[in-house]
Amino acid sequence: TSVTLIGVPLEEGSGRRGASMGPTALRIAGIATMLTELDHRVTDSGDLHPAPAADLPDDPKAHHLKIVGAFTRALEAKVYDVASSGGFPLILGGDHSLSMGSVSGMARYAAEVGRPLFVLWLDAHSDFNSPATSPSGNIHGMPVAYFCGQAEIANVLPAGRPLVDPKKVFQVGIRSVDPHEREQIREHGVNVFDMRSLDEQGVAVIMRRVLDTVSAANGLLHVSFDVDFIDPDIAPGVGTTVPGGATYREAHLIMEMLSDSGLVSSLDLVELNPFLDDRGKSARVLVEMAASLFGRRIFDRPTRAA
Ligand code: ARG
Ligand code: MN
Ligand code: MN
Ligand code: MN
Repeated sequence: TSVTLIGVPLEEGSGRRGASMGPTALRIAGIATMLTELDHRVTDSGDLHPAPAADLPDDPKAHHLKIVGAFTRALEAKVYDVASSGGFPLILGGDHSLSMGSVSGMARYAAEVGRPLFVLWLDAHSDFNSPATSPSGNIHGMPVAYFCGQAEIANVLPAGRPLVDPKKVFQVGIRSVDPHEREQIREHGVNVFDMRSLDEQGVAVIMRRVLDTVSAANGLLHVSFDVDFIDPDIAPGVGTTVPGGATYREAHLIMEMLSDSGLVSSLDLVELNPFLDDRGKSARVLVEMAASLFGRRIFDRPTRAA
């Protein structure tokens, strides 16, 4: 695979400082070397540095909209370009508001090639707020509603942009949902596998269902990996820790199954906050996770019968 790294030093969506250091920490933790060792071709396109979007309003219910909106536009265009030229966009975040751009860019690409886009959202949070429902006003709690067309955040991207069908969004690891967010998720049919279902069914059963659905539809699969999906004991470098997260082994198994499927088209690594991390531990965990997704194996498996 030809992988293009896209650094997104965005922290203004998160309500605190530090996530802008994420791309640098992931590079220092060896993301490019890891990919090269797994026989991928790697291009690092550097970090996006858009000027704030002067045409966007200041909105007390969507903090730092001029900056988040500028990154959304720049990343949407970059991800679309990389995917269109046959590359795999690997987004180094940056807070989770960046997924407004990455997923919208993939949605435009998917519409163009006539394939449905599915999204696997690995996160403690559903990120399905809108300016109207958000308790915090932080845009990193809104990207899923945004790319599904359910959160109108001024005119960040053109009104006719391709959207993601909420029924094609699979959320795994969820354990923190706001009251209005819960209603919206239900109403729009987002597929939520919360921590309880993960405990009851196990990740392998859940992932099999997700992957079979994507494969039956000949879909593209965008994976969005929020550091807080994993338990904070393993990955403490994140601003919004929630106890009881996925274990190291569960997370790796998900990545290995994704790798075997061959269905993944694009990946976000988000919410890493090196300022809160413990000697690079969380950055290294993210690189390990990405290694499993990009093909690192303990041993080869027999291929699954069709
Ligand atoms: N639900 C909360 C909010 O909307 C927290 C969102 C956390 N999101 C994240 N990407 N870490 O403010
Ligand atoms: Mn703020
Ligand atoms: Mn998130
Ligand atoms: Mn989260």
